[in-house]
Amino acid sequence: MGDRVGTGIAGLDQMLEGGVPAGHIVAVIGSCGTGKTTLALQYLAAGLKQGEKGIFISLEEDEAAIMQTSKSYGWDIEPQIASKNMAVFKIEPSEAKVALARIKTDLPNLIKSMGAKRLVLDSVSLLNMLSTDEAEKRSILFALCQQIKGAGATALLTAEARPENPTASRDGLVEYVADGVIVLSYVVPGSGGDVQLSIRVMKMRRTKHSRAIKPYNLTSSGMEVLSASQVF
Ligand SMILES: Nc1ncnc2c1ncn2[C@@H]1O[C@H](COP(=O)(O)OP(=O)(O)OP(=O)(O)O)[C@@H](O)[C@H]1O
Ligand SMILES: [Mg+2]
Repeated sequence: MGDRVGTGIAGLDQMLEGGVPAGHIVAVIGSCGTGKTTLALQYLAAGLKQGEKGIFISLEEDEAAIMQTSKSYGWDIEPQIASKNMAVFKIEPSEAKVALARIKTDLPNLIKSMGAKRLVLDSVSLLNMLSTDEAEKRSILFALCQQIKGAGATALLTAEARPENPTASRDGLVEYVADGVIVLSYVVPGSGGDVQLSIRVMKMRRTKHSRAIKPYNLTSSGMEVLSASQVF
């Protein structure tokens, strides 16, 4: 079965035979507010808890906001950043082209020199705005994944969902490049009442994963997947 990297979310690990296979690149697709950044931070926090270093590359929130968000869930990453167990990089979308070139040359070394086991890129959708050419986008994404893999990290790439098809990413690319796809979505009950958040594993290479759609909650201690319950 190979080594598994725990996500920090017990119910999700149960759906994945214990976690994400080490070395995989997993896309987390969801529409706005479904908890992509939360899941990504929870994943890094779980690593830090067991002494695994992590890198968070953000194209959305800056370092201060990420520290705040993380702290609000009870994961204080500030000391971890200070002691170099974690690194946060904010890429301004306006500088993304330069940043991407730098990522290409520096990321493998950074992962190796830090000894980072986990990496997050939040979000890949903004990275894809770099180009309008499908083939170029695909090759940018593919090269990035190769670099992460070559350096031996297990990565989560968040991606915005397509409005007309919430189980696909906005560009429809990352799900093909990634080894795994986790989809966060919501169901609006016909009878009214609260929106129900739901999670499913669409693909996870080399894993006999659950195909069930499970409800989850966003709580003050992060994402909680109710693996014993059914959405439908
Ligand atoms: N302390 C908390 N307790 C409970 N729920 C929270 C808490 N903090 C945030 N949330 C919920 O999490 C949601 C935001 O989650 P998150 O930022 O991870 O989503 P996202 O998918 O990354 O969103 P975006 O598309 O904007 O990047 C909030 O809208 C709120 O519903
Ligand atoms: Mg987010």
